[in-house]
Amino acid sequence: MARNDTFEINGRSYPIVDHTYDTVVVGAGGSGLRATMGSAEGGLRTACITKVFPTRSHTVAAQGGIAASLGNNTPDHWSWHMYDTVKGSDWLGDQDAIEYMVREAPQAVYELEHAGVPFSRNDDGTIYQRPFGGHMQNMGEGPPVQRTCAAADRTGHAMLHALYQQSLKYDADFFIEYFALDLIMEDGPDGKVCRGVIAMCLDDGTIHRFRSQAVVLATGGYGRCYFTATSAHTCTGDGGGMVLRAGLPLQDMEFVQFHPTGIYGAGVLITEGARGEGGYLTNSEGERFMERYAPSAKDLASRDVVSRSMALEMREGRGVGPDGDHIYLHLDHIDPKVLGERLPGITESGKIFAGVDLTKQPLPVTPTVHYNMGGIPCNYHGEVMAGDPKDPEKIVPGLFAVGEAACVSVHGANRLGSNSLIDLVVFGRATGHRLKEIVKPGISQDELPKDSADLALTRLDHFRYADGSTPTAALRADMQKGMQKHAAVFRDSKLLAEGVEVLKDVNKRMADVKVHDRSLIWNSDLIETLELDNLMAQANVTMASAENRKESRGAHAHEDFPDRDDKNWMKHTIAWFDGWGGNGGGVKIDYRPVHEYTLTDDVKYIEPKKRVY
Ligand code: FUM
Repeated sequence: MARNDTFEINGRSYPIVDHTYDTVVVGAGGSGLRATMGSAEGGLRTACITKVFPTRSHTVAAQGGIAASLGNNTPDHWSWHMYDTVKGSDWLGDQDAIEYMVREAPQAVYELEHAGVPFSRNDDGTIYQRPFGGHMQNMGEGPPVQRTCAAADRTGHAMLHALYQQSLKYDADFFIEYFALDLIMEDGPDGKVCRGVIAMCLDDGTIHRFRSQAVVLATGGYGRCYFTATSAHTCTGDGGGMVLRAGLPLQDMEFVQFHPTGIYGAGVLITEGARGEGGYLTNSEGERFMERYAPSAKDLASRDVVSRSMALEMREGRGVGPDGDHIYLHLDHIDPKVLGERLPGITESGKIFAGVDLTKQPLPVTPTVHYNMGGIPCNYHGEVMAGDPKDPEKIVPGLFAVGEAACVSVHGANRLGSNSLIDLVVFGRATGHRLKEIVKPGISQDELPKDSADLALTRLDHFRYADGSTPTAALRADMQKGMQKHAAVFRDSKLLAEGVEVLKDVNKRMADVKVHDRSLIWNSDLIETLELDNLMAQANVTMASAENRKESRGAHAHEDFPDRDDKNWMKHTIAWFDGWGGNGGGVKIDYRPVHEYTLTDDVKYIEPKKRVY
């Protein structure tokens, strides 16, 4: 490591610290750590850059568990898991990738077990599995399957600790509290190539240039573009922002998942495992209304179905509370010993965030933004797609994406609960395998282009000295309110068309943003502005993609087009953004075909049909 370059702009100098690695992973949540571990275990010099301490990454908040057809508590088979995932995705998921995920899932869970994840146990010592929404036996016929492997209701927390320890064991280097600014892209003979990433150390403001054969973006979702979300405040889609700035597209951004049970007012997650363990929802009339909307699966229908049913109950005047704006979740009929053993975390959250003793009272809940099905398009090896309409499978050499930042696409238009944690580890692991195949350990890498830091540092300096009149927090609030109002559980043409204008307008005001703190030492004002820039682009892309899709599918419930339209819309949206810094530019949209084929002949393509639970 040596200081070997200085970037000059407007009379200011930014000395650069250079590093060279085989692989650089950005993000240390479940997928980032699994990719880091796989890369390091494969003998590659691996760095992991993360803006928070690894065990504080947002995976820590994942509660209910991780789906895999182990069959410990009920009969199960990977093909049943595949069927449920395809159906849950409303047939927008790529079936080759889904087959890969569900077949690899058991092995990925056993690896976690051996890595030290303290799963809850059955009496016979096997991993305890609970029911979760949309997971069924017998190719969707039912009854519900117990497929979700759980460590009480702190599964993500347990996974992060085990994966961080494993990554350290294999000697990965961690750059903790470093904020990734931009990718280093170069024009190759056949399009763009990724050569590394530029990051800033948050505590001393030093700029670091990472040259690598592969960059893996594991930066999580962008839930914080909404006003109320279960996502951590760090979920600002930094990888998606970098990809858009590199001139690459994002995929299926219109599909935003609302989790049925966020604590009313606080937005804090109450795991679907609560309903898996027997919890149920009631309206102001005390009715278990899910029996009407999903007669078979009831409270364990998929999330989009339950969230829409709750929204309809509230809209039709059967919401709970003085404003009829929430629903009750009952766990008060469950043995307190079971709650203590299997759901201790949410029992505590109920007390802290709603003042409710779950053993005695119902908990006020409401659908809350939880997950982005869309993200950086990639294949099941983690390789990022270039978005070339003439060659939809063309990849960007050197660039990978995993986890919620990525869109593989296994979740399509709607993700099933507990399929996120399995996505993280299966595709983190698959990316590790691919890296081992294509990255050559320790080879000498070509010099980086002269302008390798220009994009990152021009942008950094621009926001550092931004001297408009609108504080970052005000712009962020307007963006979040716009998203909350115009791209909610239900959408319609008018709301979406207005939403596109509202978001364009807020984005234009980025040109007037004011950053007060000019320093580079723990400058949260500056970092929040850079994060807002990432969020703003993705909020605009989400709204434009939602306005563009004239059908209802999964989480995209369009009231003017209430049916799924496979003839015209069974295709992935891909979208580019060029409205940076409020320059008046916007979103461009194109499409990629859905993979209507499986990975092997062991299973047949699952033909689309009406989705009923
Ligand atoms: O409800 C939950 O525990 C969340 C799980 C998930 O989003 O997969």
